[in-house]
Amino acid sequence: MYILGIESSCDETAAAVACFEGSEKRVLSDIVASQIDIHKKYGGVVPEIASRAHTEALTRITKQALEQAKIALSDLSAIAVTNRPGLIGALLTGVNFAKSLAFSNGIPLVPVDHIKAHISAVYFENQSLSPPFLALVVSGGHTSLIDVRGYTEFITLGRTLDDAAGETFDKIARVMSLSYPGGREMDALAKQGYENAYKFPLPSIAGTLDFSFSGLKTAVINTLNTIKQKNESYKKEDIAASFTKVFTQSIVKNLGDAIEKTGYKKFVASGGVAANSHLRKALASECEKRNVKLFMPSAKLCGDNGSMVCAQGYYEFTAGKSADTTLTAYAGDE
Ligand code: KG4
Ligand code: ZN
Repeated sequence: MYILGIESSCDETAAAVACFEGSEKRVLSDIVASQIDIHKKYGGVVPEIASRAHTEALTRITKQALEQAKIALSDLSAIAVTNRPGLIGALLTGVNFAKSLAFSNGIPLVPVDHIKAHISAVYFENQSLSPPFLALVVSGGHTSLIDVRGYTEFITLGRTLDDAAGETFDKIARVMSLSYPGGREMDALAKQGYENAYKFPLPSIAGTLDFSFSGLKTAVINTLNTIKQKNESYKKEDIAASFTKVFTQSIVKNLGDAIEKTGYKKFVASGGVAANSHLRKALASECEKRNVKLFMPSAKLCGDNGSMVCAQGYYEFTAGKSADTTLTAYAGDE
């Protein structure tokens, strides 16, 4: 079965074709048109500009994905599209595009949740992995710990109460004049820095699996502002390393609590921030300590892409889910 997946929830326009045969899942094409260069000069995503860029890219990207996969529209069993959560205008460009393509060609249309899709990206590189397991999605807009009971059954155990993980990286990076989005550069800088140079507060919300990064972010930004006001010099590497240490500790603490609560022996970490080398190492050592098997998509499948929409779309479709012409987009979580 061939599925076309379309993604436009934030600042990447993506389309992919994947093939599902029995338990085998294969990506046949995966095209991502990043808008980063467009948003860079504003220091963040400008929603109206994002929607315009998606509209301009969708037809071309989808055509490329089909051509590269050597798949005709008539070969498709379904078209899957991200319809939540994300920037509403951006989501609507993808949803309306997918709707016209699906209904004018008589192809079933399947709505997909972006967070669930981030988790399902893991199946391509781990063919024998199956739910139930514990999952963490850490991206520019989301930070959630999820109990994955089945391919289409997800229970959120904890989420961020304020800033998302990637947003925290990006906001600190911006104050240090790094270019948007700063997560990847912060990762590289932290490798060269001293992690005990600054003492930042460890976020803690007792008794829950929720996250909070706004206090940590403010503490780092206040430190930077004080340094600047006093005209002191500082090393970006040390700030990045000291922040990353505390950020990572906070994630690992909730991971440990969630493992104890659920008893799961399998853990999946995904989303753009799961590409962070320090977080990957810390998660690996925590899982090893607790005898839990860790699965993380490769960096390309961690960021926003169309393949992950194909994967979740496949499971939703085979579970009987499809949409009619009233399908719309939702900015918030389900
Ligand atoms: O999953 P994603 O591509 O888009 C959303 O769904 O938000 O995640 C993008 C986020 C950005 O905030 C970016 O700075 C962050 O992922 N990111 C990283 C790294 N690579 C990307 N953050 C920390 N370390 C990285 N290596
Ligand atoms: Zn994402």
